[in-house]
Amino acid sequence: MSKKLWGGRFKKKIDADFENFSKSIQYDYKLARIDVFHSIIHTMALNGSKLITKFEAKKISEALNSILSEIDAGKFKPDMESEDIHTDIHNRLEKKIGKLAAKVHTFRSRNDQIVFNEKFYCLEESLNIKEAISNLIEAFIFLMKKYDKEPFIGYTHTQRAQVILFSDYVIAFGHMMARDLKRLNRFYDSVVPYIGAGALAGTALHKKEYFKAIDSFFTNEKIGGKVSPVENSLDNVSDRDFIIEFLGIISIIQMHLSRFSEDIILYSTQEFDYLDLPEEFCTGSSLMPHKKNPDFLELVRGYTGKIYANQLSLMTTMKGLPMSYNRDMQLDKEPLFSSVEIIKDELKIMNKFVRGITLNCEVVKKALLDERLYATELAEFLVFRGVAFKDAHDIVGRIIRYSQDKVIPIKKMPDELLKSFNNKLTQADIKKIMNAAYAISSKKSVNKKVPKINA
Ligand code: ARG
Repeated sequence: MSKKLWGGRFKKKIDADFENFSKSIQYDYKLARIDVFHSIIHTMALNGSKLITKFEAKKISEALNSILSEIDAGKFKPDMESEDIHTDIHNRLEKKIGKLAAKVHTFRSRNDQIVFNEKFYCLEESLNIKEAISNLIEAFIFLMKKYDKEPFIGYTHTQRAQVILFSDYVIAFGHMMARDLKRLNRFYDSVVPYIGAGALAGTALHKKEYFKAIDSFFTNEKIGGKVSPVENSLDNVSDRDFIIEFLGIISIIQMHLSRFSEDIILYSTQEFDYLDLPEEFCTGSSLMPHKKNPDFLELVRGYTGKIYANQLSLMTTMKGLPMSYNRDMQLDKEPLFSSVEIIKDELKIMNKFVRGITLNCEVVKKALLDERLYATELAEFLVFRGVAFKDAHDIVGRIIRYSQDKVIPIKKMPDELLKSFNNKLTQADIKKIMNAAYAISSKKSVNKKVPKINA
């Protein structure tokens, strides 16, 4: 059993099963680096407030910095006997500098440390996720450019609707994800990692000492510039809104990835056959030799359950928690880490996947022969000739019905027949209008194709 940060008032030893049950080291070790930041700043503030000497502060900071180097070098192995990461770092410090380590915890609480660590973690990861999304948008742009002028079939209600450009279709997902970037920006702006809340009631250290310590520790660090002495210590130690919000943003990103996956799964079926998927991201069947399955996309779609549940899990944990810190909150970390890790993996792989998608232009060409795809353009053409849209809609509806009932393509209808629907309509008009090039060129409202990704 490793040393605890508490124990004086207890006569009995902690029950071994309960001890295991209550530990968080098995996941919160991921916060080690940030936990050390907190300790160094706090040490400097203690020195500024004359609670420890300059010499002591130097000794403590040097030891903490050597722990930091170990973490940065990837050599840090958490002691799984520790109750949590705060205890682990403390014990290491004690090994290096003996009893002096105890002074670091003056006027400090793990309640203050953990929320600082988690906010810092969320901010760092929001930047990582932003970068991964930007890369994915670049992949959409790559695919868009590869098939710049190719027509595609647009759907509503999963029914053929109108002809579109494949490039517009692909980049629609880029626009979708560009909104996620904006959401992450707003999140980044709103989160402030506070220091100095103590257990709940604040500390006897003066704000200005925290300011000085923060400024001299984070000289050039982006997130460091956001760190601030606490404004309301109670709210600070009891706040997990930022995690719920971050998990919510990740849920929306996940929903976008899942919707994209569903489209690509559908369009790569033999029934549609519009797309070929990159083989290196597909798997075969142990029984059916011909199979090439879209497992990556299915797993992405499948992870939606877990990612939504992670947010709901914390929402439920937080419901009804009395002010201020409660141990329930320890359970925020697994859902947080889980969603962050899944989304980063998905975005990374999706970036490569998208670049490997092939459009089966010949198959699409055949599908474009479906005359119903041009019904809307035909109605709009009649409008340009002065027919009211509702009437035009009705006329074209009747032409389509006739074509289906009599099994005669519109392109084969003689002029006399067309005239019976609208007295000016001729086969020459039909030929001009009912093709992909006309359908695409008749749309003037399409906006800028490429979403902004450096905002
Ligand atoms: N492991 C704890 C958590 O994640 C750290 C804070 C513990 N505080 C306490 N008073 N036991 O929430």
